[in-house]
Amino acid sequence: MNGSLNLRAGANGARILGFGDYRPRRIVTNEEISRRVDTDDEWIRTRVGISERRFAGADESIVDMSVAAAGKALANSGVLAEDIDTVIVATCTAPAPIPGLAPEVAHRLSIGTPGAYDLNAACAGFCYGLSAAADAIRSGSSRYALVIGAERLTDWTDQDDRGTCIIFGDGAGAAVVAASDTPGIGPVVWGSDGEKSRAISVADRFSYMEMDGRSVYRWATTRLADSARRACELAGVDIGDIDAFVPHQANLRIVDSMVKTLKFKDDIAVARDIVTSGNTSSASIPLALTAMIERGEVKTGDTALLLGFGAGLTYAGQVIICP
Ligand SMILES: CC(C)(COP(=O)(O)OP(=O)(O)OC[C@H]1O[C@@H](n2cnc3c(N)ncnc32)[C@H](O)[C@@H]1OP(=O)(O)O)[C@@H](O)C(=O)NCCC(=O)NCCS
Repeated sequence: MNGSLNLRAGANGARILGFGDYRPRRIVTNEEISRRVDTDDEWIRTRVGISERRFAGADESIVDMSVAAAGKALANSGVLAEDIDTVIVATCTAPAPIPGLAPEVAHRLSIGTPGAYDLNAACAGFCYGLSAAADAIRSGSSRYALVIGAERLTDWTDQDDRGTCIIFGDGAGAAVVAASDTPGIGPVVWGSDGEKSRAISVADRFSYMEMDGRSVYRWATTRLADSARRACELAGVDIGDIDAFVPHQANLRIVDSMVKTLKFKDDIAVARDIVTSGNTSSASIPLALTAMIERGEVKTGDTALLLGFGAGLTYAGQVIICP
């Protein structure tokens, strides 16, 4: 043995062929929340920009929602379930650490025996997953991957804590990623700031989420713009030419602050799905993009800058070409 092993030949790049989403049936308005905790519609809309969010019911588990969102993404992509060889479920609200959810999701979609794993990068999870899928395709480990962001944040939120219960909701979004000679997923710019690991946390399995809202807000509005610019630079796209900006839907004021800082073109399409979905962590970016595509705000071939960020603290951004 000469100390060197064979590698598989990978594809030139990866591309998203279709998106899909699943929104839980139950709509929870600010008015409903204000009947339980001391808050009001005006405060919530002004501070976080949310009018309503969705709460998942007993028959809407993370696996159920993932299967629904991924099934829709598969249908939109034209890719057959049996061709998928990698399934990544990004989530930070799994009900238990064992087993991972991805194998069951794959089984329920009749995908067969793909590589399947869960990934926890909190609200940046979908962008981490997209990068992992694109890299697997480029290195030859995969040809067709499913990347899903799915959350039941309400399981880990104290519905009596007005600092968090107004913000979080449930849902799932998914993308089908395929090998392509013409790359449609740009290089990721990712990172973390573990010094702030307690800024959003769940202490143990008996506890609810705790959040230092102010420090998260400050971090998101001051530290992430350079990474967004760098993601455009690495993809070879002028930030002034980006067609759609789809950041994690944490807070409408964070979205608007980023839009102001980044100086996009005037008619850029901006994701503001938070208004009706709340903050759905790793599901928020694919949920928002699916809706924008369905409404015709984003068209085939448009460039979109994705930017996930959240607990960890973690962040990841990349430019994609929309299916
Ligand atoms: C959570 C957040 C909305 C709170 O807004 P804020 O302006 O920082 O508010 P504060 O926590 O400083 O609280 C200000 C006052 O509003 C009160 N308040 C907090 N939540 C309230 C609510 N839902 N309704 C009414 N009043 C509320 C506080 O008790 C406090 O009252 P006091 O001044 O009498 O003590 C804001 O910090 C935020 O959105 N941060 C980002 C969080 C985020 O994006 N998390 C997800 C990241 S993935």
